[in-house]
Amino acid sequence: MAAKVWNRLTMGVCYYPEHWDKSLWQDDLRRMKDAGITVIRIAEFAWNKFEPREGEFTYDFFDEFLALCEKEGMQVIFGTPTATPPAWLTEKYPECLNARPDGTLLRHGSRRHYNYNSPKYRELSARIVEKIAVHLGQHPAIVGWQLDNEFNCETNVFYSNADTEAFRLFLQEKYGTLEKLNQAWGTAFWNQDYTDWQQVYVPRPTIHDNHNPHQELDYRRFIAHSTLSFARMQAEILRKHIDKRMFITTNGMFGHIDNHRMTRECLDTYTYDSYPNFGFPLDGRFDPKELNDRKWSRNLTEVRSICPHFGIMEQQSGSNGWVTRMEGPAPRPGQLTLWSMQSMAHGADFICYFRWRTCAFGTEIYWHGILNYDNRDNRRLQEVKRVSALMEKLQPVCGAASAAKVALLRDYDNLWDAEVDAWHRRLQDPSEKAVFEASQRTHTPYDMFFLHDDTQLCELKRYPVLIYPHALILSAKRADLLRAYVQQGGTLILGCRTGMKDMNGHCPMQPMPGLVADITGTTVEDFTFQSPAEAPVNALWDGEMLETPVFNDILRSHGDAKVLARFDSSYYRGEPALVENQVGKGRVLHLGSVFSLQNVTQLLRYCGVLTPWADTLELPEGVELTVREKDGRLYFFLLNYQSEPQTVVFNREVRSLTRGDTVCGSMTLPPFGTDVVTID
Ligand code: GAL
Repeated sequence: MAAKVWNRLTMGVCYYPEHWDKSLWQDDLRRMKDAGITVIRIAEFAWNKFEPREGEFTYDFFDEFLALCEKEGMQVIFGTPTATPPAWLTEKYPECLNARPDGTLLRHGSRRHYNYNSPKYRELSARIVEKIAVHLGQHPAIVGWQLDNEFNCETNVFYSNADTEAFRLFLQEKYGTLEKLNQAWGTAFWNQDYTDWQQVYVPRPTIHDNHNPHQELDYRRFIAHSTLSFARMQAEILRKHIDKRMFITTNGMFGHIDNHRMTRECLDTYTYDSYPNFGFPLDGRFDPKELNDRKWSRNLTEVRSICPHFGIMEQQSGSNGWVTRMEGPAPRPGQLTLWSMQSMAHGADFICYFRWRTCAFGTEIYWHGILNYDNRDNRRLQEVKRVSALMEKLQPVCGAASAAKVALLRDYDNLWDAEVDAWHRRLQDPSEKAVFEASQRTHTPYDMFFLHDDTQLCELKRYPVLIYPHALILSAKRADLLRAYVQQGGTLILGCRTGMKDMNGHCPMQPMPGLVADITGTTVEDFTFQSPAEAPVNALWDGEMLETPVFNDILRSHGDAKVLARFDSSYYRGEPALVENQVGKGRVLHLGSVFSLQNVTQLLRYCGVLTPWADTLELPEGVELTVREKDGRLYFFLLNYQSEPQTVVFNREVRSLTRGDTVCGSMTLPPFGTDVVTID
C-alpha cells in the first residue's frame, strides 16, 4: 500500500556517476548540497557496472561512489538496472528482446528493448536485482529503490514469442476454454474461431492492421498484467533484502499499465517524470491562449489519483532534445521554478531534477540538465538554489491533500477501449480535455478517480460531483457503485454512449444506457455523429445555448426525470439533450453529447461547484489555482504561466507563505511567478 514517504519537501537530482570521471564526483556532490539537493537517483541503467560478463559480479564501482555519498551526507535512490540489458545478454539470449508485430527483433543500441515475459530475462533480472539488493540492501546512504526505469516508455506494445506464449496462459487463466475465448472475442465474425490454443497470438500484422477489437482489449489488459508481474517480481526480491526504512518506487507514467494497482500492490510511493516543455507545440504555432505547459497539470492530476503523496523523479531543468528527435527551448528564467511549483501544487513532496549535468555523449546530448557540458555555475543552478529556499518556506504544505470537490471518473477498460475503438476515442479525447480545460479556466480544481472492481463507496463520497464522460463499458458492479454514490447524495454527470458495451466490448441487446438506465431515468432512442453537412447541433437550456458537439444520443425521459435541455436543430430538434433524475438523496445528469468547455462550465455552475473559491480570490484565466488542505488549513497555489504579469485579487486577508506578509486586495504575480497563500 502506498505510504507517505516524504516527511519534508525534499529536493533531489538524477546523477550518473558512470558518465563522469571519478575526479568530479566529490565536487559534484558538494555543489549539489550547496544548492539544497539532499537526494540523488542513480544506477538505473548501469547493469554492466555490476555484471560486466554473464555471472561475474562486481560491486567496486558503486561501493566507492556510495561511500562518498555517505561521507558527503548525500541520500540515494538506487535504480534496478533492468531497463537496459547488457549486450552480452541480448546477444546470447535474443529471446529476451521485444519485437515488432512482424516478429523483427528490436536490437541492442537503445533501451527498453526487452520483453517482460521471456523466462530467461525474468531469471537474469531476478538475479541481478537480488545480487544488488543483498549487497546494498542495508547501505546507510540508500533511502529508496526505483524499479527499472519508466515501465512501458519507448514502447508499450510487445510482440515477441515469449509474449505470445504468456498471452495464451493469460487467456487460459481468464477463459478456461477456447469456447469461452471464442465467445468473448466474437470470433463468429469473419470466421475467426480458434480450435487450438496454438493458433492464438498477440495481435499480428493483418490487412490494413485491422484487428479483432475484443482481442485488442484483452491484449492491453495482458500487457498491464505482464508489467505488473515483472514489477512485482522485483519488488518482492527487494523487500526480502532491503532495510525496512527504505521505500520502493518506480517512475512513470506510461500506457498499458494499471498504475493504481501496481502502486497499491508493489510500491510504497509512485513517482512521475515531468517534462512540461512537451506541452508546447514544437511546430512554431504557439498560441498564448492555449494551455501549453499548463497542460502538464492534467498528467499531474492523474499521478495524484495514483498516489496522493507522490514524488517527481525527473523534473525538467533544461531544454529537451535527443540527437535523433525532439527539440525544445530552454526553460525561460522563472519557468524552472514555475514547473517545480506546478508539481508541488498537484501534490508532489519530492522534486528531483533531471539531471545534474548534461551528458556529453550519446543520444541525449541535447537533453539538458541543470549544468551544461562546461560544468560552470549557470542561471539554472541559481534558480534551483532559489527553489530550494522556496521549498523551505513551503514546508507546512508537505503531505497536504487535494481539496478538489469535483472528480473525473475513469477506468482502464474504457481508456483502453478508446484506443481500440475510433468512435469511442472521438468522444473520450475531447470530453476529457474539456473537463480539464473547464477546471483550469474557471479555477475549479478537480481530481481524477479511477474505478476498480474493489472501489468502495467511501472513496467516492468525498466528491459532491462526479463526471464520467463516456462509460461505454460498464459492469454490474460499477453500475451498483454509481447507484449507491447517487443514492447517498452525490451528483453524477454522464455523457453520450454510456452503457453501450459489456466488459468484453460487446454491445448487449438492450437500450442504452443499459445498466444505469434506472438511475438516469432515460433511454437512448436514437443516436448519431453530427453531420458534417450541417451546422453544429446545440441545445437550448432555459433559453440559453448549450453546446452538444460531435455525437448525440437522442434521449427519452422516464418517470419523474426532468428534461433540462432540448436539441435545437437537425432532425431531432426538440428532443431531449439533457435529463436530470433525482435518485435517493442525489441525482444523475445525463447529457446526450460529448463534453465541451462551454457545457462543462454550464453543468458545474448548475451543480453549484463552479469556481468554489471565488469568495476568497479572483484570478485571471492565465493563472492556475490548485488548493491543498492539511489539518483544516487550506493552501492556495497560484501559478502564472504567462510571460506577462498577472493580477490576482484577494477578497479577504491572506498570508503569503513565500514572502511571509499578509495581503488583501490586489497582488501582482510576475511573469512565470508563483505564490502559495493561506488564510490565518
Ligand atoms: C526520461 C527518462 C530519462 C531520460 C529523460 C530524457 O523519459 O527516464 O532516462 O531519458 O527522459 O530523455
